[in-house]
Amino acid sequence: MLVFKWNPDYSVGVTEIDNQHKKLIDMIINLNKALADGKGKEVLGKLIKDLIDYTKTHFTLEEKLLEKAKYPMFDSHKKEHIAFVKKIEQFQIDFEKGKTLLTVEIMNFLKDWLKNHIVGTDKKYESYLKGKV
Ligand code: FEO
Repeated sequence: MLVFKWNPDYSVGVTEIDNQHKKLIDMIINLNKALADGKGKEVLGKLIKDLIDYTKTHFTLEEKLLEKAKYPMFDSHKKEHIAFVKKIEQFQIDFEKGKTLLTVEIMNFLKDWLKNHIVGTDKKYESYLKGKV
């Protein structure tokens, strides 16, 4: 069972971003539930696509705010986003081709990446963005 729940320690001080993070966590939980329930490739594929699409929507908004605020660590932050999208898109391609399966390890990777990114990277802009957005 995947234990992943938003908690106030994850807040970055921007409600819209917190809400997007909550939604991403929910999407990972739902994908994990579908996997555990034995849902087929079509259902899982759709949930994976939705997760990737929403991840990109979230990164776009976050980058827009950080760029506008002239955040000094913008470049390295954006690089983390790009590397993650590249990785999950490659997974999606392999999944659709039947070259790989959605596994517990991949679910753990998604959960750990998001959690670590929020608490380790996103949280760093909290004080910087205060009063700027
Ligand atoms: Fe919330 Fe940098 O992603």
